[in-house]
Amino acid sequence: MPALTSILLFLLLIAMAAALAQGQGTRVGFYSYTCPEVESIVKETVTDHFNSNPTIAPGLLRMHFHDCFVRGCDASILLTGSSTERTAGPNSLLRGYEVIDDAKTRLEAACPGVVSCADILALAARDSVLLTKGASWKVPTGRRDGRVSLASETANLPTSRDSIELQKQKFTDKGLNDQDLVALVGGHTIGTSACQFFRDRLYNFNTTTGNGADPSIDPAFLPQLQALCPQNGDANRRVALDTGSPNTFDASFFKNLKNGRGILESDQKLWTDASTRCYVQRFLGIRGLQALNFNVEFGRSMVKMSNIGVKTDTEGEIRRVCSAIN
Ligand SMILES: *[C@@H]1O[C@H](CO)[C@@H](O)[C@H](O)[C@H]1NC(C)=O
Repeated sequence: MPALTSILLFLLLIAMAAALAQGQGTRVGFYSYTCPEVESIVKETVTDHFNSNPTIAPGLLRMHFHDCFVRGCDASILLTGSSTERTAGPNSLLRGYEVIDDAKTRLEAACPGVVSCADILALAARDSVLLTKGASWKVPTGRRDGRVSLASETANLPTSRDSIELQKQKFTDKGLNDQDLVALVGGHTIGTSACQFFRDRLYNFNTTTGNGADPSIDPAFLPQLQALCPQNGDANRRVALDTGSPNTFDASFFKNLKNGRGILESDQKLWTDASTRCYVQRFLGIRGLQALNFNVEFGRSMVKMSNIGVKTDTEGEIRRVCSAIN
């Protein structure tokens, strides 16, 4: 019965493809028997901290991203010690470590030794989006914590000066496509940047333009940015990446890119480049293009990102405290 055999083989292949699409062993509700309150405990912790300091929302989102891009989403970013990821230049301004530590303490009281720090971070990133009025998504869990963290491995994290080709390459290397790139950079809808990371665009970017500025900046916007970041002013002053709507998780960041009001050079390039511009336009619902709902697609891309190189089953460990291996 060759027909039946090939049908069975076909069904088996579909089942395998579905298992792969789920991620490498993570699944929604992983703790439903072992720690049923995990999601409410993490959410309550993030909310408590957010209420006294709203900047932890973009902070936790960025921390999760920086964790996943180095050695996979294994909480390697949280380990303290000399020459760990946390000590490296690209991570020097990360914030929110105390939120994860607090959630871990509360979880160890409720269900000791069960929930990984990597999962806490993935849940906290989702809750941060929710707290800034974005859409929610279901976070697959079951990650285990890594035991290695090396500052030297942070060199390939995306930077604010990367070309569009390099941005695409860094995402492709992690299994993320151009739509994921645009959607995830859209997380800047709630972020800020210090002047030092974009000031060169305002004064010494292009020698052929009379004012030295990046010509992709809206000329009406340039003096506003220059006022926020004077040439010899405070390099650490922080400026919202989504002018006009910095505390709400929405698609207005993309509208700013369309209007030449991106803050980081790498962000504005998503509009300059034709292939990524198409996704920006679709998130904006530009007439004639198939619209994409930014909030929905952001959640989808986050699930993909949060499955990068995860450790499951017998790999890694469940840390007792998030800042140190057992
Ligand atoms: C510098 O400005 C000129 C004139 O606006 C433009 O043609 C050129 O592409 C710019 N160079 C860069 C590197 O942006």
